[in-house]
Amino acid sequence: MPTTTWNRHHILSLADFTTTEYDTVLQTAASFQEVLSRRTKKVPTLQGQVVANLFFESSTRTRSSFELAAKRLSADTLNFAAATSSMTKGETILDTAKTYLAMGTDIMVVRHREAGVPNAIAAEMDRLGVKVSVLNAGDGQHEHPSQALLDLFTICTLIDPASPRLELLKGKKIAIVGDILHSRVARSNIWSLIASGAEVHLAAPPTLLPKLFAEYILEEAGVKNQQFIISSSPTPVRLRSRQAHSPLPTPQLFLHWQLEPALQNADFVMTLRLQKERMTAHLLPSLREYHQLFGITRTKLQLCKPNVKVLHPGPVNRGVEISSELMDDPEFSLIQSQVTSGVAVRMALLYLLGSGKA
Ligand code: NCD
Repeated sequence: MPTTTWNRHHILSLADFTTTEYDTVLQTAASFQEVLSRRTKKVPTLQGQVVANLFFESSTRTRSSFELAAKRLSADTLNFAAATSSMTKGETILDTAKTYLAMGTDIMVVRHREAGVPNAIAAEMDRLGVKVSVLNAGDGQHEHPSQALLDLFTICTLIDPASPRLELLKGKKIAIVGDILHSRVARSNIWSLIASGAEVHLAAPPTLLPKLFAEYILEEAGVKNQQFIISSSPTPVRLRSRQAHSPLPTPQLFLHWQLEPALQNADFVMTLRLQKERMTAHLLPSLREYHQLFGITRTKLQLCKPNVKVLHPGPVNRGVEISSELMDDPEFSLIQSQVTSGVAVRMALLYLLGSGKA
């Protein structure tokens, strides 16, 4: 395992992640990837610790992958599902978390449909003065750090399997396409990709990518006290910093209300599910039209670099955000390796949070 010290107690957001932290996660995940390729895929690292998966919202891959990651590290796991819990009898979220605390939980992995719930549980644990770490496994439209970190790991290991690191993405063109407005995956990915020095292109219909949202993103990305120029042309809109002496690299973030400029010469394309459960209005004329304009297909990929790869966090609406045949095409699709990488990356996160607790 890398010997770098890790000081972060909770993982709630990537907005303030440092390059060292990204690289530590990537290197640690690479070590666990190696462990997972052995005949005996288990290490005693978190023996005696308890990892509770508090999923107040549905999940297939994130929950299973955290559970498997915890088991591979020899931790004891507790799985909670809201629908079959005492919440149906009126128990509150914080009382539920305190119940798991009383059982000796060391790490709480929290997913909720409302933004801020993992932060609230983390604040309560801190207030109680206990050493419990909270890991955000997706909160509303806010963030999904472990997904963005596994996306990062998937891309970096493709470029350099022996030594995945953030700088490998410098100058790469990465398109994030789809329901950006409602996507916590997009938000966390924007932080990590901007930090890597990649050129990030967001493409969506204007209803799913409002300008105000982009301004907020850049402000939150740590480039505060700066002004941004937003071109008034509908596409592309480029946002860039005006301040010359910023210690941070100028974020390379572009907005497009059409797909083609985002795909032009792209190295990687991340597609996102239409988050119908979070749409409060009719934001699209029809799914058919959306697929025609923004759906990723083999034909549209011809605009990208010849060896372009496509990612999707899943679950996929086949034939909507991505064509069914492209999704299953191993020449382009990284969807299955994302799921596989997820276990190693989540082992790394649990290890980094848990190793200080023994
Ligand atoms: C994502 C999520 O839940 O935010 N999925 C996941 O964690 N693998 C994306 C989505 O639901 O579309």
